[in-house]
Amino acid sequence: MILVTGGAGFIGANFVLDWLAQTDEPVLNLDKLTYAGNLENLATLQGDPRHVFVRGDIADGALLQRLLAEHRPRAVLNFAAESHVDRSIHGPEDFIQTNIVGTFRLLEAVRAYWGSLEGEAKAAFRFLHVSTDEVYGSLAPAEPAFTEQHRYEPNSPYSASKAASDHLVRAYHHTYGLPVLTTNCSNNYGPFHFPEKLIPLMIVNALAGKPLPVYGDGMQIRDWLYVKDHCSAIRRVLAAGRLGEVYNVGGWNEKPNIEIVLTLCALLDELRPRPDGKSYREQISYVKDRPGHDRRYAIDARKLEQELGWKPAETFETGIRKTVLWYLDHQEWVAHVQSGAYRDWVSKQYA
Ligand code: NAD
Ligand code: TYD
Repeated sequence: MILVTGGAGFIGANFVLDWLAQTDEPVLNLDKLTYAGNLENLATLQGDPRHVFVRGDIADGALLQRLLAEHRPRAVLNFAAESHVDRSIHGPEDFIQTNIVGTFRLLEAVRAYWGSLEGEAKAAFRFLHVSTDEVYGSLAPAEPAFTEQHRYEPNSPYSASKAASDHLVRAYHHTYGLPVLTTNCSNNYGPFHFPEKLIPLMIVNALAGKPLPVYGDGMQIRDWLYVKDHCSAIRRVLAAGRLGEVYNVGGWNEKPNIEIVLTLCALLDELRPRPDGKSYREQISYVKDRPGHDRRYAIDARKLEQELGWKPAETFETGIRKTVLWYLDHQEWVAHVQSGAYRDWVSKQYA
């Protein structure tokens, strides 16, 4: 089996669902269920013996030790993190705790477990760390996209904490020989994306008749990848990545934020027109910029493409249409996230 951390969040849940759609290899899913963790994302796995869920913290060394000894995974994939830049600006503490201390505790537990393995099991074991392009900082308009050699220049408490975790993973390989792999991916979008991030927030606000808050001039550039393509890249790196290597993941889809918002408005105008016949564009509202806002991210994914033969399956056009349709079809999921109903369920379940 494999151990996935953070598997009730946006990318982790997509990963677990896709994994079990493709193989019968069981998944042990360790997630703390913070505000971003949502078991409703995994509702289709209810009663499926291939999925074992444990509520817990990656910073809990004793729990990790017990889980590893009991379940003996052949790989650990670390998705668990605090992930929202704006939250990291308001309160960095949780980011330091989970992204740095948590990753450290996880590495320590995995190091001890891996050290106890022998022969083929030891040789085949992998620790895959899921990270972000934000560790590389911000690009000027004409600069080439981030390669794996780009220096680390994190600018937000979020990206700084992820950068620290990447360095720890690297050091555990260099110092202890731990068989690690790291992926640095660009911005994801798709099903189960928590509506605090740009794309789901805009869809949800548009449908609710609320303003669409564009930070600053809306000309900041992000490089967008459909979440299921990120998941296929992680599966590929896990299967064939070279030990100790870093792989950038991206789909060559740089877009300014305002273009994303206009695209979403156009799709909603087509698929769910406003009752008054006006465009959702009318709801766009320019607001105060994010402090320290990175201007541009762009990923050079050639290493992953050339070495491991990975390619994304979706273009931005196909992926964004799927995403809007998913949100239109899953209004109940949105309502539960917004009302906090899913949290009530969690407190009942884990009382
Ligand atoms: P998310 O915030 O949606 O989910 C994070 C999950 O981790 C939640 O289920 C949460 O409950 C869990 N978690 C948080 N702290 C934990 C802890 N201490 N112990 C155990 N579980 C904990 O995040 P996401 O967007 O799914 O991102 C997943 C990973 O991918 C993160 O490491 C993030 O840095 C990275 N990443 C995200 C993006 C993106 O665009 N969202 C892009 C590149 C990389
Ligand atoms: P976000 O989804 O928070 O991802 P990240 O900051 O990790 O890239 O934001 C994506 C971009 O959208 C970023 O440039 C900030 C911008 N943004 C807005 O303009 N308005 C919003 O309400 C949000 C949440 C983000």
